[in-house]
Amino acid sequence: MAEVLHKVVNEERQGEAFAPFAEDPNTYNKKFYIESYGCQMNFSDSEIVASILQEQGFGATRNFEEASLVLINTCSIREKAEQTVRNRLQTFKSIKDNRPGMLIGVLGCMAERLKAKFLEEEKLVDIVVGPDAYRSLPGLINEAEGGQKTVNVLLSREETYADIAPVRLDSNGVTAFVSIMRGCNNMCTFCVVPFTRGRERSRDAVSIVNECKDLFDRGYREVTLLGQNVDSYHFVNAEGEEITFDKLLELVALVSPLLRVRFSTSHPKDITDDVLHTMAKYDNICEYIHLPVQSGNTRILQQMNRTYTREWYLNKVKRIREIMPDCGLSTDVISGFCSETEEEHQDTLSLMEMCRFDMAYMFSYSERPGTLAARRYEDDVPEDVKKRRLEEIITLQNGHSRESYKNDIGKTFKVLIEGNSKRSDADWCGRNSQNKMVVFPKGSHNFQKGDYANVKINSATSATLIGEIV
Ligand code: SAH
Ligand code: SF4
Ligand code: F3S
Repeated sequence: MAEVLHKVVNEERQGEAFAPFAEDPNTYNKKFYIESYGCQMNFSDSEIVASILQEQGFGATRNFEEASLVLINTCSIREKAEQTVRNRLQTFKSIKDNRPGMLIGVLGCMAERLKAKFLEEEKLVDIVVGPDAYRSLPGLINEAEGGQKTVNVLLSREETYADIAPVRLDSNGVTAFVSIMRGCNNMCTFCVVPFTRGRERSRDAVSIVNECKDLFDRGYREVTLLGQNVDSYHFVNAEGEEITFDKLLELVALVSPLLRVRFSTSHPKDITDDVLHTMAKYDNICEYIHLPVQSGNTRILQQMNRTYTREWYLNKVKRIREIMPDCGLSTDVISGFCSETEEEHQDTLSLMEMCRFDMAYMFSYSERPGTLAARRYEDDVPEDVKKRRLEEIITLQNGHSRESYKNDIGKTFKVLIEGNSKRSDADWCGRNSQNKMVVFPKGSHNFQKGDYANVKINSATSATLIGEIV
C-alpha cells in the first residue's frame, strides 16, 4: 500500500463515503443519491448540492439503486483518492447498464482537474461539474436528460453559495459544518487544491452568523467553521468594517453560550494571537487546533512553499500552549517529499517529539499532475523509503496519542452528547473541547442528544476516552 490515511482518532468524515438521508424522502418524485470523498469542505458542498436539487423536486435517497440521478463528489488530493472514485464508478456502471435513463454526475475536485477529459475516460459519466458551478446543475441535468453530455467547470472569484441553505445530510442533528470561505491562495507546491478550488474568497459574515443561528434554533449545538485556511478569512461588511477570523469567531461564539464553535484548517503562518486570545476568552470556542506541519525540516518546508520554518512552527505551538495550556493539537504530516533526506525525515520525527500531537493525519507524498512540485522537482524518494518513513511517523504518533489519551484519566470534561455510542445503545458518545471522543454509560440520568454532561475519565484507548457522568 503506497499510502495510508491513518486514523488515530475516530475522525469519521475524512476520506469516507457517505450516503445521505433527507428529512422526508417521500415528498419528492425524483430521487438523487450522492456520495462524497475528501475533506469536510467537500461534504459541506454536497449539502449545498442537495439544497439545489431539492428545489428542483429531487429527494435524497440512501439507496443508489433507486436513484435516477447518482452523484459522486470527488477528491484529487492524492492518487489513491482518485483511484477510489474510479472504482466506485465501475460499480455504478453495472447498475446503469440495467437502468436506462439513470444519470451519473461527477462533482468536485476531480471533475475540476480532469474537466471534459472525464467524459472521454469514463464513458458512463453524463455530467461533470466543478466546485464553483453547482448552481448550473439543474440546467445541466435537463440537457443530460435530453441525451446531451454536459460539463461546467468554470471557477469563480465570487461564488460562496452564501444564500443557499444547505440540506443537512446524514446529520446527527447536533453538529454541523459551515463553510466560511472557498478556494486557496497558498501555493504549497505538493497541493492540487489551488487548481481544483480556485482563488480564495470569504463568505459574507452576516450569512455565516445567520446560518449558525438557524442551526442553533433547530437544536444543533456545535458548528465547525470550514476553510482551507480559515485564518486568512477577510470580509468587509456593509458598514465598511473589516471582519477578520478572530472577529468572526467572536460573532459566532456570541450566537449562544450553548453553541460550541470549532474551525478547520489553520495555517501555521497565519494563525494570530488575536485568534488564540478569542479562543481563550469564550468558553464555547473549543480549545482544539488542527495545525498541519507537513515536515519538521526547514529546507523541505521551503521546497513545499509553506513559508514558515521549523522554528516558526515550534514557536506557534509554544504560543498556543502559553495562552491555552489545555489546548488540543493535531497535525498533518507528509513523508518522502521530493529530495527529502534521511536526516530531514529525522527532523520531522524530532519535531513530533517536541510537539506531542494528540492526533495526526499522516500521508506519503503523492505527486499530483500540474502542481508546482510536479513541474519543478523530481519525485525521487523511492516508494519503499516513503513507506518506511511513514511507518516510523505513524508508530511515533501512535505512542503520543496513547500517551495523550492516558494522561486524561482522572480528569473531568464537559462533553457534548452526539448520540448513542457505536458499540452500545446503553452508552452515549460525544466530544470534549479538545475534540477527543468520550464514551460513557447513560445510567439513570435523563440526558438527551445535544445536552452537555460532565464526564470523569476512568480509562482510555489511543482514540477514545471512557468515563462516567459525575
Ligand atoms: N488546507 C489544509 C490542507 C488541505 S489537504 C492545509 O493547508 O493544511 C489535507 C492534507 O493532505 C494536507 O495537509 C497534506 O498533509 C495532505 N496532502 C496534500 N497534498 C498531498 C500530496 N500531494 N501528497 C500527500 N499528501 C498530501
Ligand atoms: Fe493546499 Fe497549501 Fe492551500 Fe492547504 S494551504 S489547501 S495544503 S495549497
Ligand atoms: Fe480533496 Fe478537493 Fe478537499 S482535492 S481534500 S476534496 S478540496
